[in-house]
Amino acid sequence: MSKKYNTSRRNFLISSLTTGGAIVASDVARATQNDDPAITQLQPWASELGDGVDASPYGRPSNFEDHVIRRNVPWLTADPTSSVNFTPLHALDGTITPNGLCFERHHGGVAIVNPKKYRLMINGLVNQNTVFNLEDLMRFPRTNRLYFLECAANSGMEWRGAQLNGCQFTHGMIHNVLYTGIKLKDILTEVGVKSSAKWILAEGADSSAMTRSIPIEKALNDCLIAFKMNGESLRPEQGYPVRLVVPGWEGNMWIKWIRRIEVGDKPWHHREETSKYTDLFKDGNARRFTWEMDAKSVITNPSPQSPVLHGPGPMVLTGVAWSGRGKISRVDISIDGGINWKEARISGPAGSKSMHRFYYEFDWDGKQLLLQSRAQDDTGYVQPTKDQLRSIRGENSIYHNNGIQTWAIDRNGTTENVEVS
Ligand code: MTE
Ligand code: CO
Repeated sequence: MSKKYNTSRRNFLISSLTTGGAIVASDVARATQNDDPAITQLQPWASELGDGVDASPYGRPSNFEDHVIRRNVPWLTADPTSSVNFTPLHALDGTITPNGLCFERHHGGVAIVNPKKYRLMINGLVNQNTVFNLEDLMRFPRTNRLYFLECAANSGMEWRGAQLNGCQFTHGMIHNVLYTGIKLKDILTEVGVKSSAKWILAEGADSSAMTRSIPIEKALNDCLIAFKMNGESLRPEQGYPVRLVVPGWEGNMWIKWIRRIEVGDKPWHHREETSKYTDLFKDGNARRFTWEMDAKSVITNPSPQSPVLHGPGPMVLTGVAWSGRGKISRVDISIDGGINWKEARISGPAGSKSMHRFYYEFDWDGKQLLLQSRAQDDTGYVQPTKDQLRSIRGENSIYHNNGIQTWAIDRNGTTENVEVS
């Protein structure tokens, strides 16, 4: 399936010359018709009364936006209860992911937890084994934080070559949400952590009993017990009524429907941290833990699901970048498959371990483009190419693919997932 492009100047020119297709008129973004009925005639929405205020007690997007939905990849969906769907990154702007569009990943379906029967138990190396209900949790001081959550398997299908045609599918296992919650540190302090404590085990209430070991330093640093996303209660599929937030770390540690935290002195090595989510290297050894999600970025427009609909002239390119280690300090753009780079503009609310939005405006000469974005975070780390990743980890890896993505745009504006070498 993989498409390889050679970026040498000569090959690039030849392929530009041989790519067929008409060049669209260059008059960009201007309605030029003098008698345009959309401006000269009364439209239906102005000639009759609209719906009253009660028509939509819980608001919904415009019907014209009904294509902006989470989608799955049928051949990845062996069974819908242990599956994934993807955030439509190509149809979004800004930095916040709307609640109804946050990708879902469940190992045992969506647990429907009655908030009145919700309990969080803390046991193990603590002074006082304790069970909290929702009301108890609400009496701790609350905090608001914007964070991305990226599944370790995001871009996993792209390890061996370009495969899925759209950033929704190649990069859509991510969302960026404003969480309201309480600090895990405050709860652990309340129950009293013993000095021998080194790890916690977070366990979900769903049928998969998703469990992960987390070092106590991280638990006491910035983890949250969250109950709101973007101002409203968590959606059932995001862990209603309570989920764990583990900023910057791989998504599977963000236990949804969290029901128990055990405090211990060593990691538990459960299924999701042994047979899954470990990185297999060339020599057959696997890296034991990969917690932080390294700096990564993707151009969301244009992209295969959002091709260029205009001719040569001004083009606005945009995308998102994030790092589990801090803030994004810069994003560079290449329009020639990684030969030349120019700095993009970062815009909008963003912070450490949250998604950043970038824009790059340029004049398109109408020739073929090989678009790439490359993120750098404030530790100085620069997003690698896929070849650089493969040279270290080999081709058998799945998880933690943060390699640079390439979209090829032909003269018609058609956009395709490719790799350059
Ligand atoms: N927590 C529980 N209890 N059960 C799960 O199946 N899936 C994990 C994590 N937490 C999971 C879970 C995985 S692999 C990811 S990537 C994230 O939740 C996905 O969060 P989301 O569904 O809110 O996008
Ligand atoms: Co995941």
